[in-house]
Amino acid sequence: MLPNIPEIKDQAKYSEFRVSREKLEHALKVSLKQIDKGIADFGDIFPMEFSKGNVYGTMQNVAGWGNGFWTGILWHAYELTGDDKYKEVALSHIPSYTKRITEKIGVNHHDMGFLFTPSCVAAYKLTGNEEGKAAAIMAADHLLSRYQEKGEFIQAWGNVSDPKDYRLIVDCLLNIPLLYWTAEVTGDESYAVKAFKHFNSTVDNVCRADASTYHTYYFDPETGLPVRGCTHQGAYDDSAWGRGQAWGIYGPLLTYIYKKDEKAMKIFKATTNYLLNNLPSDYVAYWDLCFNDGSDQPRDTSTNAIAMCGMLEGIKHMDESDPLRAIYVNAIHRMMDVLIDRHLPENVENSNGILLNQTYALPQGIGIDEHNIWGDYFFMEALHRMLDPDWALYW
Ligand code: GLY
Repeated sequence: MLPNIPEIKDQAKYSEFRVSREKLEHALKVSLKQIDKGIADFGDIFPMEFSKGNVYGTMQNVAGWGNGFWTGILWHAYELTGDDKYKEVALSHIPSYTKRITEKIGVNHHDMGFLFTPSCVAAYKLTGNEEGKAAAIMAADHLLSRYQEKGEFIQAWGNVSDPKDYRLIVDCLLNIPLLYWTAEVTGDESYAVKAFKHFNSTVDNVCRADASTYHTYYFDPETGLPVRGCTHQGAYDDSAWGRGQAWGIYGPLLTYIYKKDEKAMKIFKATTNYLLNNLPSDYVAYWDLCFNDGSDQPRDTSTNAIAMCGMLEGIKHMDESDPLRAIYVNAIHRMMDVLIDRHLPENVENSNGILLNQTYALPQGIGIDEHNIWGDYFFMEALHRMLDPDWALYW
């Protein structure tokens, strides 16, 4: 069932507001300083997915879902400054992606889009890098190897077809743009057909009637019928994990770009309004949206950063006369303003990340109130979008 678009409950919370260009430029200066520290600290390898005490350790490109974000941050720095040093470091990463996908190292999961889009697709789009293009197409093939005909979805985790892992997760809405892009560059529409089927299986099940989202949804491996929603990283099965809700905002927009599907636009507005209705009064999301003003639970600023990117894309496709458009513009500026004022590490000694106070996975006890590399990436993307509304997407 498609959710209705909830009304914005407190319109005054999103009244006219703008962050100054000067402030955005200051945030860029702070971020570039952190990126330069990162280049010095990480050398030719990668930051871990989350920091400890706001300091990232290092890792090779062999595991997890986060490496693409560091390469992507470098692409944003390159585009924003024109400084070739960022391009050179980003390009030096590409062989590690080729090796990873060719040798199938740490890829027994669906996160091919997160890994290969901000890194290899961006390398191809920005510099014509053919190695990046080839690696990204291999990653798309690998992603499709997880496609389940019964249920028409891409299995997120675990061994393909293992009944205990027969589920999709809302995060994958950001992985499927890799398939739409592959369809475009190869001329093989079957990538896009399966991506769109996965999109529909996702939003038809993870979106609840009130426009909050389940994190994951199980299917019956025999019949392909949807079985039940449950959480992995949220507080409760029936709550809205903050970052999951943000994936449910930006993800549908990315399908909208390729498919111009009105249902995707409607889902985007519904999930966005749910988030805006459930942000605390200082506009910084708690790690699960069941927490609000007065709670001492950790925040997740990456929820803000991802949702802002979705809204910044969304307003490009909304009619000027749509009353929600003005609300979204004000909300984006409010959210950016507070991230710049309170969540950048201007005075945090030793930090080598960008965005403070992110939460990776509280139930699993990892990356809580730390830098997480995806939030750093989406903060840079949001900043880039605000400084240059004509920015051409990597996704
Ligand atoms: N995609 C995994 C996460 O958002 O933590």
